[in-house]
Amino acid sequence: MEKVNVAVLGATGAVGRTMIRILQERRFPMRSLKLLASPHSAGKVIDLGAKTGIVEEFSPAALKDVDLVFGAVDNDLVEEYAPLIQRSGALFVDNSSAFRLEEDVPLVIPEINARDIRWHHGIVANPNCATILAMMALSPILKLTRVKRMIVSTYQAVSGAGMKGMDELERQIRDPSAAPEVFPFPIAFNVIPQIGDFDENGISAEEWKMQNEGRRILHDEALQVSCTCVRVPVYRCHSESIYVETETEVSLDAIRQAAEECPGLVLNEAPYPTPKECTDSDAVVIGRLRRDEACPHGLHLWCCCDQLRKGAATNAVQIGEWAWQNGLLKKGV
Ligand SMILES: NC(=O)c1ccc[n+]([C@@H]2O[C@H](COP(=O)([O-])OP(=O)(O)OC[C@H]3O[C@@H](n4cnc5c(N)ncnc54)[C@H](OP(=O)(O)O)[C@@H]3O)[C@@H](O)[C@H]2O)c1
Repeated sequence: MEKVNVAVLGATGAVGRTMIRILQERRFPMRSLKLLASPHSAGKVIDLGAKTGIVEEFSPAALKDVDLVFGAVDNDLVEEYAPLIQRSGALFVDNSSAFRLEEDVPLVIPEINARDIRWHHGIVANPNCATILAMMALSPILKLTRVKRMIVSTYQAVSGAGMKGMDELERQIRDPSAAPEVFPFPIAFNVIPQIGDFDENGISAEEWKMQNEGRRILHDEALQVSCTCVRVPVYRCHSESIYVETETEVSLDAIRQAAEECPGLVLNEAPYPTPKECTDSDAVVIGRLRRDEACPHGLHLWCCCDQLRKGAATNAVQIGEWAWQNGLLKKGV
């Protein structure tokens, strides 16, 4: 099969840098790799292992001959650039939340709904990192029964807010009196129960994404998701405490067995996963699997995942791989 001309938009950011590493690690069939960012980064040199790459400013001309664009920039830029990418004919795999709930844009976790990529119209959206972690963690249960309801508390790393989030934690660890600029309160030695702005009902932007994305991925309009999203002073790797109510009763042993057949998922009950040990790995690791004593169909579990990898970059690269393998690149308008 023909190799692909790839561009990473946001190549200097936390997700973009991880994406470049993953494209190399997975030996993505690239003919060429363009590194695109803001005018401020044009000319910067990025280490590509055996060679280096030069960052270019994003422009329609920079998209000439590109087949596949991996997006790792904020929503406002995506809204401006997406029509230009679509017009170029390249497939746009986007990490922002700009198109995640658009009806004609597939929202994809390849291990769960790769086949949705088939009906893309030039854009495929990567789900929110906390959504990817939760859906992957539920995959062994979903092999056995329907999940009716899920209640999640997240423990999200500062890299979820990009390079600037990591810089702020570093700064405040060195100087705890350093004023917050990225997060609403100091993040060092603290936890903050707010990720994004609150709506009129007191639901944060991150909670809103998580509440709505799972239904599209699972094609289950009746799935009920409630969550509280919390920022914690961890550099990398999100964790979640998840409570689910299933349609039928399933045994813990059946779930353990099903977990062995779920790609990308690892069960760790010796004794449980922590974000530190899951950093820089693609696996979603679950543990602390247990019954809820008060509800016969209730289950609890704990899970961790490097959200820069499987929660963003790896998931996007997997989408690109599936599209390439199935001849689904170049379908822009
Ligand atoms: N961080 C995560 O864990 C995570 C997980 C899932 C999804 N996401 C989403 O992924 C996207 C990127 O997040 P991030 O965490 O990587 O952010 P980040 O570290 O702040 O990186 C932002 C990137 O956007 C580029 N950029 C800024 N202005 C630009 C412009 N005018 N034209 C072209 N590029 C421009 C920056 O380039 P310069 O360096 O030149 O400014 C940088 O490469 C966001 O939509 C985010 O919501 C993030």
